[in-house]
Amino acid sequence: MIIDSHAHLEMKEFDSDREEVIKRAREAGVDFIVTVGTNLALSRKAVALAQKYHNIYATIGIHPHDAAKADKKTFDSVKELAQSQKIVAYGEIGLDFFRNISSQEKQIEVFGMQLKLAQELSLPVIIHDREAHELTLKMVKASNVRRGVFHCFSGDYAMAKQCIDLGFYISIPGVVTFDKAKTIQDVAGRVPLSSLLLETDAPYLAPVPYRGKRNEPSFIIHTAKKVAEIKKVPWEEVAQVTACNTMNLFGINTN
Ligand code: NI
Repeated sequence: MIIDSHAHLEMKEFDSDREEVIKRAREAGVDFIVTVGTNLALSRKAVALAQKYHNIYATIGIHPHDAAKADKKTFDSVKELAQSQKIVAYGEIGLDFFRNISSQEKQIEVFGMQLKLAQELSLPVIIHDREAHELTLKMVKASNVRRGVFHCFSGDYAMAKQCIDLGFYISIPGVVTFDKAKTIQDVAGRVPLSSLLLETDAPYLAPVPYRGKRNEPSFIIHTAKKVAEIKKVPWEEVAQVTACNTMNLFGINTN
C-alpha cells in the first residue's frame, strides 16, 4: 500500500490529461491521493475530484500566496465547503517568506485565523512553511492545533523533532532524491518511520529521474525507494507505514 498524501490534481497543469494521470497512479499501485486546495476556487475543484474518484480525498484552505485576496466572504464559503463529503484536512495554510506573494503581515493574520478555523471544523491541518520556520512553529505552538503535518518539510532535524513532539507528522517530498538535498535526507534518516508521510506535491518538485518535469502521483514510488535506501529498510515497509500514518492522520477508512 502507498499513498500520495499531498498533490494538486485540481490545478490547470492537469487539465489536458487528468484522467490518464489518475489512471497511471492506480496502475503504479498508489491506493489513495490527497488533493490539496490552495484557494477557494481550487478547493472547490479538489472537492469535486474527490466526489468523482473513489481513490481521491480532498482538503480545503487558503495558501499563504493567496492570503491577500481572501476576505470574510471567502472564509464563509470555505466553511460552507467544509461540509462536503471526503474532506480530510484543512490546508495548505502557513507562511511563505521566500516568495512573499502576499505581504507577511497578511500571511500571519490569515494563518492565525485559519488555525482557529481548522479547530472549529475539527480538521487536522496541512502546514506550508517556506523560509519562515521559527514563526510558523511559534504560531502552531501558540494555537491549540496538535493534529497535522508539516508538508514538503524544509527544516532540519532539530526542527523536525519539535514538530513531532507537538504531535505533528513530517512529510517528505521528492526533493529527498536530489543529490545535494542533504538536510532533508538527514531528516528522512533520523525521523522514525512512524512520524513520516510521503508526498509528491505534484505538479511541482518531481523526484529523480523526472526532476524538472511535471510531477504526478505515480512518481511517489521513487520517493519511497529513496527513503528506504536511506533508512536501510525494504521500500514496501516505507510505503506501508507512511500509508497507515496518512490514513490515521486524515481519518481515511478503507472499509
Ligand atoms: Ni502543495
